[in-house]
Amino acid sequence: MKALIAAGGKGTRLRPLTYTTSKPLIPIANRPMLFYILDEIEKAGIKDVVININKGITEIPDAIRKENSWDLKITYIEQEKPLGIAHVVKIAEKKLKDSPFVYYLGDNILKGGINEYLNEFTSNNCICHILLSKVRDPERFGVALFNKKGKIVKLVEKPKKHISDFALTGVYFFTPEIYKAIDKLKPSKRGELEITDAISWLIRHKYPVTYSKVTGWWKDTGQVRDLLEGNQLILGDIDCDIEGKVSSDCTLEGKIKIGRKSVISDETTIRGPAIIGKNCRIKKSYIGPYTSIGDNVEITDTEIENSIVMPCSKINSSARIVDSLIGFNAKITSHKQTFPSGHKIVVGDYSNVEL
Ligand code: DAU
Repeated sequence: MKALIAAGGKGTRLRPLTYTTSKPLIPIANRPMLFYILDEIEKAGIKDVVININKGITEIPDAIRKENSWDLKITYIEQEKPLGIAHVVKIAEKKLKDSPFVYYLGDNILKGGINEYLNEFTSNNCICHILLSKVRDPERFGVALFNKKGKIVKLVEKPKKHISDFALTGVYFFTPEIYKAIDKLKPSKRGELEITDAISWLIRHKYPVTYSKVTGWWKDTGQVRDLLEGNQLILGDIDCDIEGKVSSDCTLEGKIKIGRKSVISDETTIRGPAIIGKNCRIKKSYIGPYTSIGDNVEITDTEIENSIVMPCSKINSSARIVDSLIGFNAKITSHKQTFPSGHKIVVGDYSNVEL
């Protein structure tokens, strides 16, 4: 058994962050999303992993090499252009050879891992096994339709009308039969080779396509609110671990992690679950539940809640920041600190600001 991860693509829905950071490296609870996937693959006992990245991208291999915490043989394939998630499988064939594999989309997090589903796939000699999850917004996903016996009869990618509540998650188990299906594909309306179409081809040609319903939570972190929700779900499970220094006038409530060399001072309150990275300086502030603060961040005189702050940012704003995603090296100051008063902003393309 091998694993293939799709870690390329454009990341359009997370712009402007994805102009400078590959989507799979966006941190959730201070770890790149991709690392959670590698954890799960390792826990499933798989050793051989192929990761698809955009051509010329070095930051993903660099980040994995730096973390160096998995006993996995990782190799990379480079996609010239994001021609679709089935195109990724096509170009991975040479590396995956005739092995069955789990295909994991790099923006999916599946709590509870893949062991249970992998067992189902191997013990029933499945050809193609997919994971489905009941969702409130099926129009954002590929969906499955069933017959009366509960067998999958059809898959539809991002249906405009409501036809099913069951979305395909971005985790699939395949045998090499999938290459036959991909060879027959034509680009979809969005100009991509769709994995949903490849599986539909298998169904039409009478190959058995089996499924499991996901029992724990699953998130496709394609949009900001999904990332924040993923952050909440992961923070919900953290344990307390205070390595940094907290002065006696500060208040810590609930489950909180504070990294080495961080200093929390000047009547700061931190209400967990929350995680503060290494080497942060937090003064006179309130850090509310479900907040992740990356390494080397400085926060002064600010309230922040249900947000992700990426490393090396500086915030000193006298404002209350909620439900926000703040990129690497960002600077947020109070408009009252300089004249003329008023909000002075440098906003990147495709940014989203609520003043
Ligand atoms: O997350 C589940 C959904 O994922 C399924 O319900 C859909 O059926 C499936 O098509 C897929 O839909 P998305 O629109 O969310 O896929 P997206 O284009 O966001 O790509 C998923 C991941 O694959 C993302 O991390 C980027 C990567 N990717 C994407 C493309 C198009 C590549 O590595 N190469 C590509 O060419």
